[in-house]
Amino acid sequence: MTTSIQQEIENLGPWFHNIHLPDGTQTAPKHAFGDFPAFKWREIEPNIPADLNGWNVLDIGCNAGFYTIELAKRGAQVLAIDVDPHYLKQAAWVADQFGFTDQIEFRHMQVYDVARLDQNFDLIWYMGVLYHLRYPLLSLDILSQKLKRMMIFQTLTLPGEAVAEVPEDLPINGREKMQQDGWPKMAFIEHRLAGDITNWWAPNHAGIEAMLRSCGFKIKSRPGHEIYICEPDAENPTQLHSWNSSEYLSATGQNWEEAVKAKVADKNRTLTS
Ligand SMILES: C[S@@+](CC[C@H](N)C(=O)[O-])C[C@H]1O[C@@H](n2cnc3c(N)ncnc32)[C@H](O)[C@@H]1O
Repeated sequence: MTTSIQQEIENLGPWFHNIHLPDGTQTAPKHAFGDFPAFKWREIEPNIPADLNGWNVLDIGCNAGFYTIELAKRGAQVLAIDVDPHYLKQAAWVADQFGFTDQIEFRHMQVYDVARLDQNFDLIWYMGVLYHLRYPLLSLDILSQKLKRMMIFQTLTLPGEAVAEVPEDLPINGREKMQQDGWPKMAFIEHRLAGDITNWWAPNHAGIEAMLRSCGFKIKSRPGHEIYICEPDAENPTQLHSWNSSEYLSATGQNWEEAVKAKVADKNRTLTS
């Protein structure tokens, strides 16, 4: 007996992505957000080249692969990663339905594992993951090392669009300034948000701008609520290469002591020359 597509969808559920399969069946037609994430894709897609042939794409937290499929349709080669085997199983099945198995590779990976990939990406798709992390800034530092052209970034945020002018320095007794509206902030969620124990941080808009800047990204546009299109900022590279490179190396399991020794030797050479 052959299992119907509808039966396979039910067996693979529950679904977070409503994917319109080639035969017209949908994976989550009664999604609480509506036709999700198709309505978000419609906001973003005019900003993505129609022809992605030759582009290497990394989709982080690919879930059931809605964006992976759309990018593969445009010709991209996609590495799609997720920590949840349930979603990867859905994504592999969906890719099979579309016949994209040659263009897409799925891997069971943490975003932090990207630090160990010896590959860079033309496009990094980083939507709906940052607020699930306990170490969000580390993920952005890692991705800035791997980005060649464009990153699509989205996160859950705190309400408000204000951006305060942040001085180059702040006196130790001037910290009340950080309480003003528009100061870059992230609220920590110790327990749950929307009943979900995997939500840890909610940055405000100013906080997102500041973090992206600090990690070496330039915001090019904002096609929708909480969505940021970024590119590498050649004039303002990530601050991990300055005083805190050893912290980054340590956090990504690399040999940081050698890096510190090399830096000290370099400094001594400059002082004696
Ligand atoms: C809210 S969903 C977003 C899915 C999709 N990116 C989107 O925007 O529609 C979060 C996804 O990220 C995955 N995820 C959570 N933490 C992750 C991590 N540390 N590394 C990789 N994926 C992660 C989850 O399993 C889930 O599929």
